[in-house]
Amino acid sequence: MASNRPNQPGSGPPGAGSMGGRTFGAFDEPRLSADDFRALRDVVNAYCGIDLAPDQRASVERRLRERVSLAGFETFSEYVRFLRSDPNARAELEDAVDALTTNETYFFREEYQLRAFREEVIPILARQAAARKRLAIWSAGCSTGEEVYSIATLLLESHELAGWDLRVYGSDISKRCLAQARRAVYGPSSFRVTSPEAKRRWFIERPEGWMVSERVRQLCHFGHLNLLEGDRATAVGRVDAIFCRNVLIYLDGRARRRVIDLFHDRLYPGGILLLGHSESLLNVSTAFELLHLRDDLVYRRPAPTGFGFASPRAMRAAAPVEDPPLSEPRARRRGTP
Ligand SMILES: C[S@@+](CC[C@H](N)C(=O)[O-])C[C@H]1O[C@@H](n2cnc3c(N)ncnc32)[C@H](O)[C@@H]1O
Repeated sequence: MASNRPNQPGSGPPGAGSMGGRTFGAFDEPRLSADDFRALRDVVNAYCGIDLAPDQRASVERRLRERVSLAGFETFSEYVRFLRSDPNARAELEDAVDALTTNETYFFREEYQLRAFREEVIPILARQAAARKRLAIWSAGCSTGEEVYSIATLLLESHELAGWDLRVYGSDISKRCLAQARRAVYGPSSFRVTSPEAKRRWFIERPEGWMVSERVRQLCHFGHLNLLEGDRATAVGRVDAIFCRNVLIYLDGRARRRVIDLFHDRLYPGGILLLGHSESLLNVSTAFELLHLRDDLVYRRPAPTGFGFASPRAMRAAAPVEDPPLSEPRARRRGTP
């Protein structure tokens, strides 16, 4: 089917541009009407679950204005119509969402939770995975990678995991963020709570910033993933713990349920889910049990009674060595409706 998208940035319908009698300037910048905002909000929501509030219209207009002209349109109406109805709009929709996401992050964010992970969660996971001596952690919505590398340093510091096969997967919907994550070079704002000792230990100073050390980077793998397209999460395989911090807050209820369902599917029984400090599964899912740690509350995918302390036979039954495909039949999931 033919695309309505102009071929070249700046090319538009007949009569467009200053030659056609139109003036371009600060006062003629495209404006996002309430109707177009509502239509755009629906497109974005259907694609990635992000829930744009009515009071975000001005900020959406500001963030997408450049995209409108880069995509070759003159008005938001044309741009939104293209995103809504053109089968070739997928790449532009990805770029638009990339421009709309909030990517705030830094190393060792929510220190109390990382302490709980180091002191209480790692020992649980180490017991559960003792037979395979392999641990996989997934940072879902990792932004520019600081969370992924922070988790990797905690795994490397753990004596219980010495000699294990350790992996930390980072995924995000933003390709721009992932490029920065893979580059692994960071400026001062990423280190706002990093101790000088940790900085010396895990980073190398370069002219362009501080680079994550090779030892840490070796554990970390990044991939592009829209959490609402969970069937693409096969690359992640089964994991022992998932960090999904400060992501659910941007999603609506329907999207949160789908994402949590995906996490339930991807976690080994007994696997642990860590959310941001303002996020919870209240009104989202009852498939997880709450685990009260000294410094934090985390969620656990239920496991057979006594899992983690159980007989090797029970642990083998609960944690298959081979990763089943993501498309595991729903009926085999525990606790999902
Ligand atoms: C505020 S950052 C959180 C980064 C990190 N987890 C932290 O807490 O420091 C939220 C990230 O979620 C990502 N995100 C939002 N919706 C997403 C979706 N549907 N699929 C994948 N990532 C998404 C955004 O691109 C953004 O990088």
